[in-house]
Amino acid sequence: MTLDLLTATRAARKRLDLHRPVADQDIRECLDIAVHAPSGSNRQPWRFVVVRDPALKSQIAEYYRKAFAANLSGRTPRPDQLADLSSGQYLADHLAEVPALILVCSLGRPPADPSPLRLASFYGSIYPAVWNLQLALRARGLGSTLTTAHLAYEREIADLLGIPFDEVTQVAMLPVAHLLPGSDKPVRRTPAAELTGWDGWPPSDRVAASQGGSEP
Ligand SMILES: Cc1cc2nc3c(=O)[nH]c(=O)nc-3n(C[C@H](O)[C@H](O)[C@H](O)COP(=O)(O)O)c2cc1C
Repeated sequence: MTLDLLTATRAARKRLDLHRPVADQDIRECLDIAVHAPSGSNRQPWRFVVVRDPALKSQIAEYYRKAFAANLSGRTPRPDQLADLSSGQYLADHLAEVPALILVCSLGRPPADPSPLRLASFYGSIYPAVWNLQLALRARGLGSTLTTAHLAYEREIADLLGIPFDEVTQVAMLPVAHLLPGSDKPVRRTPAAELTGWDGWPPSDRVAASQGGSEP
């Protein structure tokens, strides 16, 4: 069951059921699981904002749509990226209709000294909670996608939701809905064996190929 969950938890966009309500209690229980994640010195920097109000969702969706469009402009997608872009566009077009948006925030602002250690501590103390949350949602038949496009308008969204911008960083937004029946396409991942070195760097040339562009 655990292994199935780890391999089945995918970005859900077109499989989000925009019409079936999501219970507050399900969200609360998933957040309770999210906060079991590890963080540096057990700081537990996470804070969550659950957005349900249709007017607020519409405004966030508008920012998301603008940011998503700006992200795409001037890009020529590779053929293998077209399906992802189509589902990304679908999410951008329907974000306001998703039953709940969960913004995951971290206390503090990103480190002014962007040393690898400080960056790892800052972002590494919040993303495990994001993934815990996505796994907990998936275990209840709820789909989500880790999104960041809206961060182009982080300040505007902070103002909208009363998030203290100077003290808190928005890290990710998860649109949450029940999954429509059906199954995902097979997962596209490079096998770990091609990416792993034992007692040294892996003897392969996949580093350059795996350098992605901007999301999704
Ligand atoms: C840091 C990060 C930022 C992401 N930002 C977005 C986003 O803004 N919008 C979106 O639709 N997907 C976003 N994604 C989702 C990725 O596109 C998705 O996880 C990836 O394509 C794998 O999809 P799959 O699990 O369905 O195979 C993001 C993922 C990560 C890890």
